Amino acid sequence: MDILKDLEAIKENFKTEYEKCGCMLQLENVRTAFLGRKGELNNILKNISSLSVDEKRVIGKQANMLKNEFSVRLRELKEALMDSQSSDETHGIDVTLPGIRPRIGTTHPLTKTLSRINNIFISMGFRIAEGREIETEFYNFEALNIPLDHPSRDAFDTFYVDEKYLLRSHTSNVQIHVMEDRKPPIQVIMPGRVYRPDAVDATHSFMFHQVEGLMVDKDISFSDLKGVLLYFCKSMFGEDIKMRLRPHFFPFTEPSAEVDISCIMCKGKGCRVCSGNGWLEILGAGMVNPKVFEAVGYDTDRYTGFAFGMGAERIAMLLYGIEDIRLFYENDIRFLGQFA
Ligand code: DAH
Repeated sequence: MDILKDLEAIKENFKTEYEKCGCMLQLENVRTAFLGRKGELNNILKNISSLSVDEKRVIGKQANMLKNEFSVRLRELKEALMDSQSSDETHGIDVTLPGIRPRIGTTHPLTKTLSRINNIFISMGFRIAEGREIETEFYNFEALNIPLDHPSRDAFDTFYVDEKYLLRSHTSNVQIHVMEDRKPPIQVIMPGRVYRPDAVDATHSFMFHQVEGLMVDKDISFSDLKGVLLYFCKSMFGEDIKMRLRPHFFPFTEPSAEVDISCIMCKGKGCRVCSGNGWLEILGAGMVNPKVFEAVGYDTDRYTGFAFGMGAERIAMLLYGIEDIRLFYENDIRFLGQFA
C-alpha cells in the first residue's frame, strides 16, 4: 500500500526535523508541520474515506500510532528545552529575582531652585519676562547707568561676539527691554543665564543663572521692596529666617543695598558656611535710579520702582548644602540623582 509507505516516509521525516529542533520556535514549527490541521498526518487521513474497510483500519491504526508518538516526542522535547532554558541565565526567567527598575530622570537642582524662586514671586503677582543672552552694550551697560568709563564695567566686560554684541553679564538688561515695551504698572521677574570673565573655582563660574526683579508704579517705596524680599526669604528658607540690608552701590539703583539672611546652617551663631559672622549675602537690590527711567523714557516725577537681582546657584547651594558650583554643570548622575 502506497499510503503505508507515505506514513513511513513521514515518520523518517519527522525524525530528521525533530532532531534539528533547538528551541521552542523550531519545536512549534515541527508540531504544525506534522500534527497541525493542515499538517502531514492530516493530509493523509483526509483521503481515508475512499479506502476499503480493511485499509481504513490498517492505515487509521498506523496514523494514530504516529500521531501519539509524535506528540509524546514533542512533549518530551518541550520539557527538556524548558529545563535547559531556565538554567541558562540569559534566557531563563527566575521569578524570585527582583525586577529591573527603569531609570527615571530627576529634575536638575538648579531647575528646581529656579522654579521655586519663580513660584514665590508669581504668588505675589509677579509675571515672568524673558530676555536675551546676546545683548548690545546699550542694554547691558549704558541704559543701566554704567557708562563706558565706569570702573564696575571691568568685572562685567565679558565675551564679545563682535564689536556690537556681547554675552550679557547680568539679567538687568531685561529690565530695559521690559520698560521699553510696556508702561507701568510693571511687576516682573526675569530669570536667565549670565556670563562673567571669572576663573572657574568652587564658587565662581564663567556662566551662571540669575533672577532679576522689577516693580514700577506710582508710589512704590523702599518699604515695598523690603516687604517683598522678606516674604521671599521666609518662603524660600523658612519662617525663622532674619533679613538685613546693608548699604551698597549699584549704578542702576539709588539707594542700593546688599541683602543678607541669617545663616541657615548655624542660625546666626557663626560657622564655616557664613565665615563666622552669622549672615549670608544672597542678593543685591535698590530703588530704580531715575537715570534708568530716563533711558527708557519714563516720567521720573510720576513713577518710582525697585529692582533686585540674585544668583540662582548661590541660593541652590545654600538650600541643598552644595559646596562646589561646578557640580551643577558636570552632568554627573551620582550628584543629579540625589534631587529626586
Ligand atoms: N546686576 C547685579 C549683578 O549682577 C545684581 C543686581 C543688584 C540687580 C541690584 C539689581 C539690583 O536689579 O537692583 O551683580
